[in-house]
Amino acid sequence: MTGPYSSVIDGARDRAGNDPIFTLNAEARSRATAGESILNATLGALMDDDGVLCTMPTVLETLGRYASSRRPAGYAPISGVPAYRQAVIEDLFGDGTLADQAVSVATPGGTGAVHAGVVNFLAPGQKLLVPEFYWGPYRPICHHTGRDLDPFQMFGANGSFDVEGMAAGLERHIDTQGRAMVVLNFPCHNPTGYSLDADEWQEVVAAVKRAGSRAPVTVMIDAAYMEFGGAAARSWIDAVPGLLESATVLVAWTASKSFCQYGARIGALVGLHRDEAERVQIDNALGYTCRSTWSNCNHLGQLAVTDLLTDPDLAERVGAERARLCALLDERIDVFNEYATRAGIPTPRFDAGFFVAMFTPDQERTAAKMREMGVYTVPIPGAVRVALCSTPVSAVPRLVEALEAGADAGVTA
Ligand SMILES: Cc1ncc(COP(=O)(O)O)c(C=O)c1O
Repeated sequence: MTGPYSSVIDGARDRAGNDPIFTLNAEARSRATAGESILNATLGALMDDDGVLCTMPTVLETLGRYASSRRPAGYAPISGVPAYRQAVIEDLFGDGTLADQAVSVATPGGTGAVHAGVVNFLAPGQKLLVPEFYWGPYRPICHHTGRDLDPFQMFGANGSFDVEGMAAGLERHIDTQGRAMVVLNFPCHNPTGYSLDADEWQEVVAAVKRAGSRAPVTVMIDAAYMEFGGAAARSWIDAVPGLLESATVLVAWTASKSFCQYGARIGALVGLHRDEAERVQIDNALGYTCRSTWSNCNHLGQLAVTDLLTDPDLAERVGAERARLCALLDERIDVFNEYATRAGIPTPRFDAGFFVAMFTPDQERTAAKMREMGVYTVPIPGAVRVALCSTPVSAVPRLVEALEAGADAGVTA
């Protein structure tokens, strides 16, 4: 600051302008450019084994078809292109009862969907319940909008999801703020890689039913990695009818990962409620948020993704291309699990997705030791996050070796 005054308000001063993950990524890349052998397992984008960003030919072709037309040059409707909004609902729920109980708006990626959920289902000053390991941006999304975050213990003694921790949080929030909202980023939880099994989902349903009978409860399912969840990718949908008996369900949907279109900023927030009048409220509230934040979303992207979801030929081709990407990830996950088990690396159950976490009491020392060895991961409280999505299969042994050394460094701190 050159003069005596700063115009930046107190609450906005001294904020980090970049996500710490992007800063680590930049450091890793600059060391690699300088000629070092670097394994960069920081960023959540799927890379092939040559380190090239994976894309899907059918997606590129469909986007390209719209690129030279006039239609997407105009504004999209505020809440999104109607066919797109419906296509997302049907992608999740087909055309059955759940689809009838759903409304949706287009959002800039899953990030926009989370924002729209937080500002409409929590009042200023209220807290969002999250597992203690969580996707970093939930915190600034809450803080930026005058809300806060309240993490609960994620894993019980037996290593499974601590449903009791979540249930206690719901009850506590109902007592202190008269409502509760929890975000569940399953399957393929970022950052731990954990996916709830069918029994755990049913336990979640029971806890939500109890809480929802006392006060308004919202369950936001952040389904960012849904398409990479393997055989159980959509098993969470079986839990939705039970959740709807007493709660509002939100689904943060995004094309970023499932269509390899991180830069297109195409997402949606789907809201489900058993009561039609309430659905109208939700629809209007979400539309208001669209108008007052991003106004409207990428028109071209909505048109293309609608085609990709609804044209049977395109959908089949996309499915086949995505299956190849899932196979790429599966191979890495299998090799990782084999090496990690042998080395005794402490991770949660991990069978699908972009990331896995290794627990460590001192994540900064663990990550620093790994960086000394040229291996970049992301330190988060109690763990380091490993992006297998950007780790070539041939580099997994090196990764595990560095994790082992990092774990020792974390324990001897
Ligand atoms: C857990 C989780 N939720 C939501 C998102 C949203 O991503 P986007 O805004 O790119 O769709 C991400 C992306 O990294 C994520 O990891």
